[in-house]
Amino acid sequence: MDTFEAISTRRAIKKFDPNHKMTSEEVDSLMKLTILSPTSYNQQNWRFVTVTDQSIKEKIGVAARNQAQPVDGSLVILLCGNMSAWKDDPLRYWKNHPTEKQELVKASLEKKYADSPQNRRDEAIRSCGFAGQTIMLAARQMGLDSCPMVGFDYDEMAKIIELPDDHLIVLMIVVGKSLEPAKQRGGQLRLDEVVFKNKFN
Ligand SMILES: Cc1cc2nc3c(=O)[nH]c(=O)nc-3n(C[C@H](O)[C@H](O)[C@H](O)COP(=O)(O)O)c2cc1C
Repeated sequence: MDTFEAISTRRAIKKFDPNHKMTSEEVDSLMKLTILSPTSYNQQNWRFVTVTDQSIKEKIGVAARNQAQPVDGSLVILLCGNMSAWKDDPLRYWKNHPTEKQELVKASLEKKYADSPQNRRDEAIRSCGFAGQTIMLAARQMGLDSCPMVGFDYDEMAKIIELPDDHLIVLMIVVGKSLEPAKQRGGQLRLDEVVFKNKFN
């Protein structure tokens, strides 16, 4: 499958095959690709909770207002932002580069995030957005399907996954084998409603 095909065949799946399981090697392959997703300053501020345990998936299903996907899908991934990543031993984000580069990045991170909860939160959301698309496209290449989801009770989910205080749940993605094709697309907007050449006016 090439990239264009992965993009155009990715759909938000409602019914997953409850009998399909992913091996831990498959989950690891998917997550190894996922952590190649871009983050600002390479701060890698996403944290992923990968759930395959059926009893936890069922609790997640209840928190997701009884939507079926987390219960029937093979893998549930909670994409979370670590809003302390900017100060969490930041030299390691450029460990392959000279010390001067590492120190430069550390200073830039401090400048941008130390006094701005908004920047920390925005960055968490941006990073998890990119990672989410990587997960869904890589899943297609592995012959799997997915559903991105935010229809869940945040506090309940935070309790289930024991979310640390300085982390934010950005979204959940269920990966698995589709039991039936997605319905016809809702309908994309016209290109000229959403794409502006050079500027808005
Ligand atoms: C942030 C986000 C949250 C979503 N939450 C849910 C959800 O809770 N339940 C669900 O069935 N679909 C959910 N969806 C799927 C969207 O409804 C779906 O992506 C959209 O209708 C476009 O369809 P497509 O993904 O098949 O192209 C969500 C999608 C996104 C991006």
